[in-house]
Amino acid sequence: MSEEALRPSGSLAAYGDAMMNAFGVPQLVLVRGEGVYVWAEDGTRYLDLLGGIAVNALGYAHPALIEAVSSQMETLSHVSNYFATPPQIELARRLQKILDIEGYRGADARVFFTNSGTEANEAALKMTRLHKPGGRVLALTGCFHGRTMGALSITSKAAYREPFEPLPGNAEFVEPTVQALEGAFGEDVAALFVEPIRGEAGVLPVADEVLAKARELCDANGALLVVDEVQTGIGRTGRWLASGGRVLADILTFAKGLGGGVPIGACVGIGEAGRLFAPGNHGTTFGGNPLACAAANATLETVSGLLGHVEETGAWLRGELARLGYAVRGRGLLIGIEVADAPGAHKMLLAEGIITNAANPTTLRLAPPLLATAEELAPFVAAMARHAGEFQASASVGGIESAEAQ
Ligand SMILES: Cc1ncc(COP(=O)(O)O)c(C=O)c1O
Repeated sequence: MSEEALRPSGSLAAYGDAMMNAFGVPQLVLVRGEGVYVWAEDGTRYLDLLGGIAVNALGYAHPALIEAVSSQMETLSHVSNYFATPPQIELARRLQKILDIEGYRGADARVFFTNSGTEANEAALKMTRLHKPGGRVLALTGCFHGRTMGALSITSKAAYREPFEPLPGNAEFVEPTVQALEGAFGEDVAALFVEPIRGEAGVLPVADEVLAKARELCDANGALLVVDEVQTGIGRTGRWLASGGRVLADILTFAKGLGGGVPIGACVGIGEAGRLFAPGNHGTTFGGNPLACAAANATLETVSGLLGHVEETGAWLRGELARLGYAVRGRGLLIGIEVADAPGAHKMLLAEGIITNAANPTTLRLAPPLLATAEELAPFVAAMARHAGEFQASASVGGIESAEAQ
């Protein structure tokens, strides 16, 4: 290939010439980031309220992450899973301690590291097969658990699933209500997958009574309760787990914010669930790689000092938006805002230098870096005030209290 053809290019035309069209046309070509801001190739600065979709917990170019990854790279960047490494063991221990804080007996938990959220859920699905071979698998309507074939089989949106059917497993979707769960359960259920706040559905928290019923029905029927904390975990909601203090799971899955931007996920089994895999049952070349684990250790260390800040800043932001008349959902810094036309609102905000996300046609989703301050977020509040009339045109107007009850 000629040197010309290989020359790096930032243009979107070059993207289209080289990349599969799996994501549509990207909105911008981003070249660098710092704190809560990213810069596009034309030099424009953007306030990033999406944070790589709840990934960049420490924002961009955080010194703790740079130091951890750089020094690990100089020491040991990868070994196979025939060998253990100190960052990997440290990270598993840290996750156990997080579980202690959230009401589990962390010492009873066992960790399997992956590279992504969908893989963490794949591991969980395989564990449910070992737990109750041939058992039915339940998931909630509106949930999103990933795009690989197994995780896709428990992802509710038909448009994502149907082109790829038949999918493995025999997953069924249940409304997140006490009555629907009672109707769906039986002794043949192997597992129920729950996303404690359904992000794609519009940042919709699952009610506490539904989580309690889920636990009760899993216990009564010998099923595993799998709580997917891929988007909601690791401080996103102002505590380590969005399900923390609400329900205890048999299996927890993590990814996104865990590595602060370096790809890593984890499937954590508690008690017997953590002992389902025997040698040969599952594997991964990269999962638990020391570079990713070092990034995750630095992320967890930093996030441990940010939990109060996330709760406070999220409450402030949701309060400001509610005062402007928006119906607001979510916890901590995972926020859904009801608008008449989310893709339209997203575009207008982007043109004003603010990155948000249209989770669905009527929900703007925010998942900014956890270290975002009220001062940094203020321009967004001002933009939402300026556009309140048009953004709310026919959206339901409501306060924070009514919205959080969903
Ligand atoms: C709740 C949830 N589970 C699983 C996934 C899949 O994670 P990944 O994209 O890392 O495979 C996502 C991604 O958006 C998610 O939000």
